[in-house]
Amino acid sequence: TVVVRRRMRSSGKWARAAEIVRELEEKCATPLGRMRQVADAMAVEMHAGLASDGGSKLKMLISYVDNLPTGNESGLFYALDLGGTNFRVLRVQLGGKDGRVVKQESAEVSIPPHLMVGTSDDLFDFIAAALAKFVASEGDTFHQSVDRQRELGFTFSFPVKQSSIASGTLIKWTKGFKINGTAGEDVVAELTRAMERQNLDMRVTALVNDTIGTLAGGRYYDNDVVAAVILGTGTNAAYVERAQAIPKWHGLLPKSGDMVINMEWGNFRSSHLPITEYDQALDLESLNPGEQIFEKLISGMYLGDILRRVLLKLAEVAAFFGDTVPPKLKEQFILRTPVMSAMHHDTTSDLRVVGSKLKETFDIHNTSLKARRMVLKLCDIIAKRGARLAAAGIVGILKKQGRDTLQDGNNKQRTVIALDGGLFEHYTIFSKTLVVAIEELLGEEVASTVFIEHANDGSGIGAALLAASHSQYLELEEP
Ligand code: GLC
Repeated sequence: TVVVRRRMRSSGKWARAAEIVRELEEKCATPLGRMRQVADAMAVEMHAGLASDGGSKLKMLISYVDNLPTGNESGLFYALDLGGTNFRVLRVQLGGKDGRVVKQESAEVSIPPHLMVGTSDDLFDFIAAALAKFVASEGDTFHQSVDRQRELGFTFSFPVKQSSIASGTLIKWTKGFKINGTAGEDVVAELTRAMERQNLDMRVTALVNDTIGTLAGGRYYDNDVVAAVILGTGTNAAYVERAQAIPKWHGLLPKSGDMVINMEWGNFRSSHLPITEYDQALDLESLNPGEQIFEKLISGMYLGDILRRVLLKLAEVAAFFGDTVPPKLKEQFILRTPVMSAMHHDTTSDLRVVGSKLKETFDIHNTSLKARRMVLKLCDIIAKRGARLAAAGIVGILKKQGRDTLQDGNNKQRTVIALDGGLFEHYTIFSKTLVVAIEELLGEEVASTVFIEHANDGSGIGAALLAASHSQYLELEEP
């Protein structure tokens, strides 16, 4: 009788599960009105963050990039990209106006998880060693005068308070990184010391966020790029602001009149954000509770884990996967977003992919079609909320730039936003939803002037380009 009592009656179980899904859908809803509120709040916070340090959850960090690539950059430059689950090293031969990117090579190294939560020196030593190895493989198809020090654009995808184009201190770690003692330190100095330990003679001439790199890389190929968004492990945006519209900037007015701003929008927060009990629990159990709330609703590091939490709830209160709760459902981050994406894109009639992913990930066997359909529905709710919120963020930037309306009916200005990151690149339903939501927000006519472009590895090339335009040898070359 015990077993009989503990087993939920099948119909009751499905009703309870359906109720949980319905509730989630309601709480995650992002109708047009809600997206508008988020876009407006984003624009308001942008103003506040530009007004003063600490004026907003949005840090609106000054990048010291006041000129974006022109196409004239030339020479051999390196870039190092740190900030996701992998880090990349890259070298490019830039050929100036006619040559552009003559040749490029890159290597990708995954970061051992223990280094993401270890010590600063260990992390930087690991990076510098991989960089040294890569530099050693340069070969003679790349050209550089012998007496020149190699120069590096360092893409460091965390919030940094810069003091110049090539220096800045880490404000805090985000995403999966948490290393004691790095916050408050100059990350260029740390990397430089590690390079010295490797006997690597190289100089960092540009320190940039990945959003800034992507903006620079995007602009190199398209003059109308005015903002960049990363949708990957984390999420963030950068855009071109008028220096005069930055009250907290006390430096000289740049010749261009512009200053690129790293928004750190992952830390955006607003009462208009649709937040559920699952998000709250995820945040509490994260490495950085109370922080990066927008990021935790949108980005690749978290989407899969939100789904896992809902599945766990279904298992616990609706016996969704049988009478016992599959233990692996309790393991944080065991369900990665690429797996969620694979399930979400399952077009087989019996949802075979959903079934096999549940088996591989959680050891859950023999799921019914009805259960798989519900899982698919959950993917849809969670991914679409993220995509629509990101769209609202983008429209917030366009508002701030005055590009959310038509300036001149006859002479339509193009607005291009460079996007990059694994989530954007690989999670097709997410990216498509994002584009549709932007159209919904802007209306057809304005939307026809706004273009979302995938800047494939814009951030690597962008960092190399900025290293080039800030080269220590530049004055020697200028006519
Ligand atoms: C996190 C970082 C931010 C970065 C983004 C995308 O939000 O704080 O600096 O741009 O992830 O990688």
